Amino acid sequence: MEALVCRKLGDPAETEPGSEESPVVVSKNQPIPPLDSDTAGRATSLNYANYLQIQGKYQEKPPLPFVPGSDYSGTVDAVGPSVTKFRPGDRVCSFAALGSFAQFIVADQSHLFPVPDGCDMVAAAALPVAFGTSHVAIVHRAPLTSTQVLLVLGAAGGVGLAAVQIGKACGATVIAVARGAEKVRLLKSMGMDHVVDLGSENVILSVKEFLKKKKLKGVDVLYDPVGGKLTKEAMKLLNWGAQILVIGFASGEIPVIPANIALVKNWTVHGLYWGSYRIHQPDVLEDSTRELLSWLSRGLITIHISHTHTLSQANLAFAALKDRKAIGKVMLVLDHKISPTSKL
Ligand SMILES: NC(=O)c1ccc[n+]([C@@H]2O[C@H](COP(=O)([O-])OP(=O)(O)OC[C@H]3O[C@@H](n4cnc5c(N)ncnc54)[C@H](OP(=O)(O)O)[C@@H]3O)[C@@H](O)[C@H]2O)c1
Repeated sequence: MEALVCRKLGDPAETEPGSEESPVVVSKNQPIPPLDSDTAGRATSLNYANYLQIQGKYQEKPPLPFVPGSDYSGTVDAVGPSVTKFRPGDRVCSFAALGSFAQFIVADQSHLFPVPDGCDMVAAAALPVAFGTSHVAIVHRAPLTSTQVLLVLGAAGGVGLAAVQIGKACGATVIAVARGAEKVRLLKSMGMDHVVDLGSENVILSVKEFLKKKKLKGVDVLYDPVGGKLTKEAMKLLNWGAQILVIGFASGEIPVIPANIALVKNWTVHGLYWGSYRIHQPDVLEDSTRELLSWLSRGLITIHISHTHTLSQANLAFAALKDRKAIGKVMLVLDHKISPTSKL
């Protein structure tokens, strides 16, 4: 099968796959993972964590060589002898620790979710990690209520664009922070209560002015996939009793959240590693993914995909993340062997 293989650590955004310097190569002869009692399907996906992992900067460091990739969708190609829930041709989506940047992936049937009729398959592949992370953080961990104010940093990125929509689905007042006119336009068109353009505005002044106009005291829940200086600024906007959802560090800088201020202001800091729920609380993760697929099929959330590339263009896909050009999700789709039942 065809797969993107990471053969050494490095930046995959810098060079074309297969060139001497590139850490990744498109292999046309990657062995198909053997099927035992499991289920197999086609795969597609791209996440910021995959980019970090190929550079050796992610918390999970698999031995080389490895096929990266986490969430995916596809049609079931074959089933193992003890599979009862799925048949070849079924439309499914899921996520794996590794291996979705490939034509085939093997998954236990308990890890697969049926994609509801009417759901676009590329959208279903974009959903598990980005929307799952934001849903577990905002709905399960916080949980956000309709009377609260949610502040989302990196709001036009993969997890951010999911977080703002989930915040609105909860009925909360949602403030989105992003950089650049295109991102701001999209966030405004999605009905955000306030959007800060980091390219031209001071986040503290802009949010304070909005809160004053709306007679609101401050921010109740901070959703933070960015870190660094922006977290420091956002902390100045938090209410007594606020919650901080620590999601990631796209800025490359791990922020300091002073314990003395957390004490005085009664803040709760939630560290959230979504993937680890599969080990520690799989029911939370499964219920969340099912609910999100149902929301997707009913049009309560939409998946915005700004870049779609094939495996051999993986450098362009990673560059979209690196250069902050991604709006919503960046997808890798396989450029051949399209299943007639799949829209991929
Ligand atoms: N905790 C978990 O379980 C979990 C799950 C998924 C993702 N994450 C983490 O969440 C973070 C965001 O992931 P994502 O998939 O949403 O990424 P993404 O689509 O690239 O979005 C990240 C956003 O961060 C902002 N940003 C600020 N400084 C940046 C910089 N120096 N480089 C790149 N972006 C920068 C960008 O917004 P502007 O350009 O508009 O400022 C960008 O839209 C990553 O650190 C990822 O590892 C964590």
